[in-house]
Formats: sequence, structure tokens, C-alpha cells
Amino acid sequence: MSSVLNFGTSIVFGWETFSRLDEYLPKGRTILVLGRGSARDLNLKKRIESILHRELEVFTGVEPNPSSETVERGGRLMAEFEPEQVLAVGGGSVIDAAKFMAVLGKHGGDAADYTIGGKKPPDGGYPLFAVPTTPGTSSEITPFSVITLKEIGNKVGFRDPALYPKMAIIDPELTVTLPMDQTIATGFDILSHAIESFWSRNSDPITRQMSLRSVSLVKEHLQGVVNDGSSRTHREGISLASVFAGLAFSNTGTTICHSISYPITYDTDLPHGLAVAFTLGPTFDRIREKGFKGLEPLAKAFGTDEEGFKDELMDLMRAVGAPTSISDIGFKGGVERIMATDMSSLMKNMPVDLDDDDLRNIIKEAF
Ligand SMILES: [Fe+2]
Repeated sequence: MSSVLNFGTSIVFGWETFSRLDEYLPKGRTILVLGRGSARDLNLKKRIESILHRELEVFTGVEPNPSSETVERGGRLMAEFEPEQVLAVGGGSVIDAAKFMAVLGKHGGDAADYTIGGKKPPDGGYPLFAVPTTPGTSSEITPFSVITLKEIGNKVGFRDPALYPKMAIIDPELTVTLPMDQTIATGFDILSHAIESFWSRNSDPITRQMSLRSVSLVKEHLQGVVNDGSSRTHREGISLASVFAGLAFSNTGTTICHSISYPITYDTDLPHGLAVAFTLGPTFDRIREKGFKGLEPLAKAFGTDEEGFKDELMDLMRAVGAPTSISDIGFKGGVERIMATDMSSLMKNMPVDLDDDDLRNIIKEAF
């Protein structure tokens, strides 16, 4: 068995790294990309201006689930300004959008060309420095960008090595003010990335170790951070779990638990991480029933054994106040609404073959 781990981003991790941003960011023309102007974003803007002693061109207005229009507007600004680097500070949406803008700004075209059109940028976009204010998506260290494409009115992903940020500056201090509902949802997104990456067909000995470390860190710190959001130990543990999950799933991709979550979040306003978590336990059991060996380390990292995995996961969801079933959240679509989703691309990453009945049973169990 051999492993090839691709990785394109330098990571700076630790407390106080945000206040030393000026040391990491080269001098020169810089565009700052921020969210759409929440109090948190405004506060960040002031802090960044006081830390970075330089002129900044600022693009604010990245919305949650960023649209292709926003990304194309940012791309045009970048093409005009020709920055030496781009600084993105915010959650996964801000960083996803900035990654795409940096490619569009340098190489031109529309968002549709690179997503549904399959256009490949010849090399990276403008160098991007990414500072996450939420853990979870790990966008600051992955080569993915997810946007809503106006042409089809749906979310699409763009995956290309050109999207790797040049550097991620990850300071757990920025997550201390994250509201508790988002803390819980992003915690389950991290856990889902780590678990799905572990059993992904594309996993290897290196990514699996990273997944296991991420799972055990979430187990160790999620309940703690929910009990005490100001705990540096627990906030740091979750930020670190996000790094390990990101390193793992940027190489392996996720699996059907992510596919199943998309119609749920489309029809309700349930946060992404909570929607994915519903099917982790049932999928674990189904993979095991199909004869897949090798889940034991995963169960162990989660503090249990293979038989107990699903219940242990339910216990954690209950303990932090997350919904434990799809029926809890007012989803009206039923099993067949979810079955109508095209799951083929992430199904390819599953370690065993599942037919429609298997899928239907996993979804039914999650209701
Ligand atoms: Fe996710």
C-alpha cells in the first residue's frame, strides 16, 4: 500500500497569529475580501486595518452560499486592480468565494465556464491568504469552492489545485465569539468530513490517521466547547480537528452522507453540518453489514466499539442539543424526495457498493 498526499497550502496555526498578520502577508497591493457586513465583519475590518499598515482595496458583500454574480463581481474587481495578493477573512462562504474570484480575476471567464463548463485554469489565481473565522468547512486548506450558479439555480462545486490558498492563518481566537448554534453545526461538519474521509475508497494510511485524530479531537472537545464557549483548550481542539479533517478530505472527498444532506438543507434552513450528521450512524452500520472491515479504529477514536458507534453518535448529538433525526426538523419531502437527488459522484467514494434499497434504508433510518 502506498500513499500520495497532495497539499498546496502553507498553514500557520496558533493563538495570536491573527494579530501578527502583517508578518505573514507580503507587502504590495492587497484586496481584502469580507462577508456581507455583519457586526462581526465590521469589527474584523477595523481590526485588520489596524494590524495591516497598508492601503487595502476592500470587497465586502459575500453572502452565505455565495452566488456566481458575487464571485464574478469580485473577479472583475480583481482583474481591474491586479493585486499582488488577496486576503480573505471570514467563514467558509467568504473563503470559497475569494478562491474563485482570485482565479476569475487572473484568468477571466464566468463561474459557469469553470463549473459546468469544465474549464481548467492554466495555473493558480492571485495568491490567496485565508483567515477562517469559523472552523468546519476547512475551505482555507482545500482546493474546493462551492457557489450557487445562476444558470442552473443550484449549488455547484469547483475543484482544482488552482484553488489552494497560498497560506492559511488559523487563529482559534477568532472562533471564540462564534455563536453556539454555529459552533455545534460546524463541529458536526468537521466530524462528518473526518468520518467520511476515513471510510472513503480514496483514503490511504496517511489520510486515515488524520481522520482518526480529527474524530478523537471532536469527541474530546465538542461537548466542552458547548458547555464553555470561552474555553481556549476546547476552541483550540476544535480548530485543530478542522485542520486534520481538511487535510484528509481534501485528498479523499466525502461520501453519500453529504449527498443525502443537500435536499435537506435546500428545503429547510438547517445548517449543513447537522444535516450530514443524521446519516453517519446508519451509513456506518450499512458499510459494516456489507462486510467492510476496518471500521474498528474509527469507532475506537470515537470512544466506543463498532456495535456502539451509532448510539454514541446519537448521545453526542443529544448532549449538545443537536436534532437527532430528519423528522425533528420539519423536512416535508420524505424519503423519495431525497432519493431523487443525484448521488452518483459521492457514491463513487463509498468503500462498498450500495444499491437503491440500501440507500433508502439508510435514509429511512435517519428519519
Ligand atoms: Fe461538509
